[in-house]
Amino acid sequence: MDELQFQELLRQKTEAVEMIIKRYLPEETGYQKTVLEAMNYSFLAGGKRLRPLLMQETYRMFGGQDRVIEPFMAAMEMIHTYSLVHDDLPAMDNDEYRRGRETTWKVYGEGMGILAGDALLNFAFETMINELVQVQAGLSPRSSGSAEDIKVAFEQARAVARAISVMAGKAGIYGMIGGQTADVEAEGQKKDLTMEQLLFIHEHKTAALIQAAMMVGAILAGADVEEIENIEKCAYNIGIAFQIQDDILDVVGDSKELGKTVGSDEQNHKQTYVTIKGVEQSVGDVESLSKEAVEILRGISGDHTFLEQLILMLIHRRK
Ligand code: IPE
Ligand code: IPE
Ligand code: MG
Ligand code: MG
Ligand code: MG
Repeated sequence: MDELQFQELLRQKTEAVEMIIKRYLPEETGYQKTVLEAMNYSFLAGGKRLRPLLMQETYRMFGGQDRVIEPFMAAMEMIHTYSLVHDDLPAMDNDEYRRGRETTWKVYGEGMGILAGDALLNFAFETMINELVQVQAGLSPRSSGSAEDIKVAFEQARAVARAISVMAGKAGIYGMIGGQTADVEAEGQKKDLTMEQLLFIHEHKTAALIQAAMMVGAILAGADVEEIENIEKCAYNIGIAFQIQDDILDVVGDSKELGKTVGSDEQNHKQTYVTIKGVEQSVGDVESLSKEAVEILRGISGDHTFLEQLILMLIHRRK
């Protein structure tokens, strides 16, 4: 597959992801309409949809063919979007431009920005748990399924529960929120950040959700423990590389192309991978981490041609 064919395939796949995840958005009615509008405003602003795409591709790579993955793809993007809505708040990175539009708090006010983030997070869990409830309905003694149907539903319910647990963990205090906490605290730090500290931040604030995306794909497709561990390692590399590239683009990127403010890190006196290692070394590390991710993937069976190309494409992403 050449570069042009890959870009076209990526466009088609992203569009398909977009169609799936949009179906799970709430209707904008009722007295709480404003928060629903604010949720949809940020969610529908676009974005690369990388995490649900990684989830779907990992699911397929392990042979998954069911629609059980769909609510998880939507929930993944809701959690990611909530993390961005809160990350942009004045109390955090204080950014006014995201996904090619004004940030949620800028349009709806700070209070509604906080609530829209909370709402996206909560709705993500509602969406996933509702799937569990549905799968479990197939297990009820009154269900008309055969013994074989019940066995399948039982296995699926186990996988769905595990997937929810991974999403909760990777988004939480030992995952993304933990990373954002260390990131916020590091802002006030006069001393140079150690590499260990910076890698903690990158692993948790960014790699954790990418790990959740790929691990959930693997879990729902029935991958075994070792395969899930390898996927977690692979996604660690993708995630660290992704955040290093994000730090690079904050310095050398184009605000229009990126759809978000550049120079935000400097403005916030943030120490990043680039301030610590310099642009050149950072570019090299993005490449080597990504190639390592591809190597890990190659050790796993299944067709991962597209995933490999996607990882390699991200090395040179401009947005
Ligand atoms: C931005 O994520 C936040 C980081 C973790 C670096 P993305 O670059 O995936 O943002 P969207 O979803 O495309 O807007
Ligand atoms: C944010 O990292 C990671 C999140 C959990 C949202 P950044 O603060 O660098 O992300 P951008 O550059 O604002 O997208
Ligand atoms: Mg931030
Ligand atoms: Mg930010
Ligand atoms: Mg950034």
